[in-house]
Amino acid sequence: MLTIHSSPLQGFTDFRFRNTFQRFFGGIDRYIAPYIQFKGKMEIKPASERDILPENNSSTDLIPQIITKDADEFIFVAKSVQKLGYTGLNWNLGCPYPMIAKRGMGAGLLSRPEKINEILNRILAETDIQVSVKMRLGYESPQEIFHVLPVLERYSLSNITIHPRIGKQMYSGEVDLNTFEKCLAMSSHKVFYNGDITSVGRFREMKERFPKINHCMIGRGLIADPFLPSMIKADNPVYPENRYEVFSSFHDALFSSYEEALSGQKHLLMKMYSFWVYFIQSFSESPKGLKKIKKAQNLGAYREAVRQVIYNL
Ligand SMILES: Cc1cc2nc3c(=O)[nH]c(=O)nc-3n(C[C@H](O)[C@H](O)[C@H](O)COP(=O)(O)O)c2cc1C
Repeated sequence: MLTIHSSPLQGFTDFRFRNTFQRFFGGIDRYIAPYIQFKGKMEIKPASERDILPENNSSTDLIPQIITKDADEFIFVAKSVQKLGYTGLNWNLGCPYPMIAKRGMGAGLLSRPEKINEILNRILAETDIQVSVKMRLGYESPQEIFHVLPVLERYSLSNITIHPRIGKQMYSGEVDLNTFEKCLAMSSHKVFYNGDITSVGRFREMKERFPKINHCMIGRGLIADPFLPSMIKADNPVYPENRYEVFSSFHDALFSSYEEALSGQKHLLMKMYSFWVYFIQSFSESPKGLKKIKKAQNLGAYREAVRQVIYNL
């Protein structure tokens, strides 16, 4: 059975997005929350806490995520999320942003397999949280992962997700499927493929190359085309006849959800525009329509610009 996880996107896939997505589209077996942010040492930011509170996530299967190079912090977060009822925690070893990676976290930790070992050793000895890992091939070089996978083999992990790029590539450039193939051969863990699944065709190409892979994680592709996960799972992947009506209702529900949360029109329009940078990929009149949405100064102008894009007016 094919399993699709929703890949976390900080600033996008928060509980408001996840709940609305689940209500209109589904096709996702599990959502990974964007990594938990800290206010100070051993203090979770209220916004991150709100994002994973069970009462805010009633209809979704969710796993929180941590980004850290510190075992004590890991244990603290593991215990905090367990108190909320979670049994699993995903460890981010992939974030490429220099602010994070240069401080030895995210993809910046991949060059230190001994440190990864030390942290996993303590987590699995001192807590009973089920750890999963989301990682890149390395930060500087795709060879880094070959020293990390043998460390991961020593531990019982729920799964590992590999996004086959290095940190320095950020989010563009080719995914390195040759190295991914070598990783598959080296790991006895359940491996999820992540990276650039943006259409049913792209998914099928990946599946053809790696027929044994039955697990994938989708990030940007799911925002750009929210029908994608359920289409990937369908025997006959076609859009519903009322595709644009469904999208429009989803958009309006997402809009209302952020309207409740954000103060001021400007914030709301900026938030919605950031989604439109992805959404627009589902529409033909892209650059002109996106410009209009960006330029909208008030809710009326925004709604009109959105209507024109959705219904290709
Ligand atoms: C704006 C943005 C925010 C992201 N935030 C996170 C995050 O919080 N945690 C994480 O593990 N990955 C994060 N990622 C990486 C994605 O989850 C995913 O691994 C990456 O985009 C490749 O998959 P895709 O091509 O399906 O999007 C982020 C990516 C982007 C573009």
